[in-house]
Amino acid sequence: MTEKAYQICINPDCQATYGIDQILFSCDKCKSLLDVVYDWERLALPRSLEYFEHRWGTKGLWSEGRLDFSGVWRFRELLPFVPNEAVVTIGEGRTLLEQCDTLGRQIGMKPGRLFLQYEGLNPSGSFKDNGMTAAFSLARMLGRRRVACASTGNTSASLAMFANKSEPPMQGIVFIGTGKIAYGKLSQALDYGALTLQIEGDFDACLRRVMQIADKLGIYLMNSVNPFRLEGQKAIMYRVLEALGWQVPDWVIVPGGNLGNCSAFGKAFRELQELGLIKRVPRLAIINATGANTLHQLVDKHKVTWNGGRYDRDKVSALYKVMDDSHYLPHTIASAIEISRPVNLPKALRALDVCKGVVREVSDDVILEHKALVGRYGFGCEPASAASVAGLNLLLKQQIISPDENVVCILTGHELKDPDATVKYHTGIDMKALTPPPAVTPTGVCANPPRRVADDLEAICSALGETLPV
Ligand code: F0G
Repeated sequence: MTEKAYQICINPDCQATYGIDQILFSCDKCKSLLDVVYDWERLALPRSLEYFEHRWGTKGLWSEGRLDFSGVWRFRELLPFVPNEAVVTIGEGRTLLEQCDTLGRQIGMKPGRLFLQYEGLNPSGSFKDNGMTAAFSLARMLGRRRVACASTGNTSASLAMFANKSEPPMQGIVFIGTGKIAYGKLSQALDYGALTLQIEGDFDACLRRVMQIADKLGIYLMNSVNPFRLEGQKAIMYRVLEALGWQVPDWVIVPGGNLGNCSAFGKAFRELQELGLIKRVPRLAIINATGANTLHQLVDKHKVTWNGGRYDRDKVSALYKVMDDSHYLPHTIASAIEISRPVNLPKALRALDVCKGVVREVSDDVILEHKALVGRYGFGCEPASAASVAGLNLLLKQQIISPDENVVCILTGHELKDPDATVKYHTGIDMKALTPPPAVTPTGVCANPPRRVADDLEAICSALGETLPV
């Protein structure tokens, strides 16, 4: 490879390389995930993270190139795969790290030790914008016009927003599961004009289908199997370090669904350490909901570890077979992380290895109690996000984390994404049950209703106005 940035298969026994202009979402040879890697020696690299401070004077300005305005592209030297002119940005990543002593005290932390990273303050209301800006920039560079994802709601909201904000605009296509999406998120995809297919199935079924469709119809896939998404999500950790005066926290705690975010964090810290820009990496805690706890089962029950990339695939297949045989479907109030076959599993195992990580599960009741605490003492978050604070409380009780360690909990999505969950918690009233879907046709000129489609390739192609290629 002579390029300064390229893709590489993460399987140590394969390590096939591909150019960044090659559109594939797994290795052609062995089907493992791909990483974006850089030939850092040939790139202009900052000597220290303080280098980025020279952009602070311009970061508030929607100014020339708009790149400093973005909390992702402000760190562009650390994700150098796209020329500045191709970047698609909407001002993502202008988020807050809040020191939250009141909440910290409530769960037994010492003052000054608990920090909440509010990724719900992104333009589409979740951390997904960090990754979308990166993947959209690549899609634009490669001249793609149609983009698609499967989603539990936030990826689709973010994709829909970026698709209509791109220059030129792209067609956004989103696959959502039936009855599996919080209305705040569904309303975004519809309002931003995405073609919304409601598949009869859950997220895992949607992801399987969108990957097949993307492949067959040449649509650019925006799920986190797209390694460029994860490049953008590294910036969440750069901003955490920036807000802490470039000090590395002791712990970063993040909810785990499809395991893209935790994988991106692990890659960010590994790269920064290899580049000598940080001296140590933080520990990582990934928190599953009990009703969607595949990672927890694999790591804690079946003792699956990264093992230099040679993780025990048989154990993973065996667990998936048990799930299939028992017709297991994940179920949690934290609908964002209601996922049973996380596609980034290998990368998450690697992140756990890099960051001496731990995995925990927390029940829906515990998630909701911690969501209410975040709301009471902070700016609020959606249920999945509160899994991080619930996980912290558990790890404090288990004395894995001590009250005087510096801990950053990532609050991945905005409170208003899922108001039903909040209202139900505080009033006991199930708003969805009160308002059964009316059988009416929308009359608005811009109305963009979701289309119901069977979990079937031909039916999906026909909903996209195409026939299934043979
Ligand atoms: N928190 C929120 C609010 C999310 O929307 C998601 C994922 C996660 C946590 C988990 O992140 O997948 O990187 O481990 N939502 C995806 C979606 C699956 O379709 O919006 P992850």
